[in-house]
Amino acid sequence: MIDILVVDDLLGPRKVLQQKLSKSGYNVVEAGNEEEAVEHLKSKSFDLVLTDVRMNKRDSGLDVLRVAKEENQDTPVILMTAYGTVRQAVQAIHEGAEDYIEKPFELDELMIKIDKALQKGHLIRENRFLRKELHLDGQFSDIIGKSDKLQKVLDVVRKVSKTDAAVLIRGESGTGKDLIAQAIHNNSPRSEKPFVRAECAVYAEGLLESELFGHEKGAFTSADRSRTGRFEIADGGTLFLDEIGEIKPSTQLKLLRVLQEKSFERVGGTKHIKVDVRIIAATNKNLEEAIQKGAFREDLYYRINVVPIYIPPLRERKEDIPILVEHFIKKFASKVGNRVKSISDEAIDFLVSYNWRGNVRELENAIERAMVLTDGEVILPEHLPLPPGMGISQSEKMSLPKTGSLPEKTDEFERQLILEALEQNKWVRTKAAAALKIPRATLNYKMEKHNIEPPEDDE
Ligand SMILES: Nc1ncnc2c1ncn2[C@@H]1O[C@H](COP(=O)(O)OP(=O)(O)OP(=O)(O)O)[C@@H](O)[C@H]1O
Ligand SMILES: [Mg+2]
Repeated sequence: MIDILVVDDLLGPRKVLQQKLSKSGYNVVEAGNEEEAVEHLKSKSFDLVLTDVRMNKRDSGLDVLRVAKEENQDTPVILMTAYGTVRQAVQAIHEGAEDYIEKPFELDELMIKIDKALQKGHLIRENRFLRKELHLDGQFSDIIGKSDKLQKVLDVVRKVSKTDAAVLIRGESGTGKDLIAQAIHNNSPRSEKPFVRAECAVYAEGLLESELFGHEKGAFTSADRSRTGRFEIADGGTLFLDEIGEIKPSTQLKLLRVLQEKSFERVGGTKHIKVDVRIIAATNKNLEEAIQKGAFREDLYYRINVVPIYIPPLRERKEDIPILVEHFIKKFASKVGNRVKSISDEAIDFLVSYNWRGNVRELENAIERAMVLTDGEVILPEHLPLPPGMGISQSEKMSLPKTGSLPEKTDEFERQLILEALEQNKWVRTKAAAALKIPRATLNYKMEKHNIEPPEDDE
């Protein structure tokens, strides 16, 4: 139902409007003066406001307009004026009126204006909604992955973005911790303020403190000028403490104090500096173990670990590999003159079976290199510059049967190891036996047992 507020101090004309609008299917609320109108506007939202300008000898319709716009800037307001001077109309449009109509008017003329205004209001709202939605999606669109595991991570990211809670992101190297930290900031109310990264691992102890908190001139020998720390730079925004597991105990204590008190002093300074900073930390260290060993403060751990986010390694979410590959092919396409368009199924199979110790970063690098090496339009297995077997677990490398008893699997394993040794040594048995560190006679016996025969033209 479309709600319209009709404001007019004269009962007669108001009733005429009320009847006409109700007949047209609108839900009409009436107000006989500015005060009543304001009361309605504050208690409920309207799809359109139709107000007389001149009421009780004042231009109080303009005040109704103002309040309506304050309550919801998308609500269209149409003014009815008996003083149809251009000046007043222009002023009203300036103040956000959608349209105006001069008294006396034909009801049909008014209905056309109302229809138009409603349609436009609807579009504005829809547009704004769409923009918001797109905005949100836009921010996450560079995080690729359809696995349940990654989608669960993104659910938490979405929720935690709206808050100021401290987040601790964990995951192996290259899983996307930086990417997620950025996404949280970009989708947070702090997105217009700075996102500042502090690499906790790269600085010596004292230097890290001056990085984080800044220092005053003369604080230490090389401090020939004062310096603003990252906490100050991040004021109002987000500070990303990368590799927080590397921070030394004395700095941990200082950090804890800052997080508790939200203020600190620069190194060598005495002035208290207040900051409003949201903390996101990341580590691939086992902090719980570090706490056990006394290397990481438990109280700091609880401060930074309000919301834990764990990004699983790529090998545990292999469903993500094909779309990541597609994403990276697009990403690097222009670098190779848009020559490379796709990847063969075989190459994809290989990428999916690979172990990816370096996670998404390693995959990204592999695709970039492959695209440079590929001559045609399609990436083939031979373009993947992964050393054979590297990173693949023995059983994957040897394509061992997934089922079967231990003796059966061991047997198959032995067969493949022998084949590999022979192939690598051009079927020279003495060399293969030496490589396997077994007597040549044993090799002969095992070749017979496994039915291994040299290729015909080789012996
Ligand atoms: N889900 C993903 N979608 C698209 N790109 C990703 C994804 N995850 C990671 N990447 C890309 O992989 C690379 C490594 O990611 P990132 O630097 O965020 O990892 P990290 O966990 O911070 O690694 P490190 O522990 O080494 O600091 C980046 O180029 C990043 O854009
Ligand atoms: Mg990182």
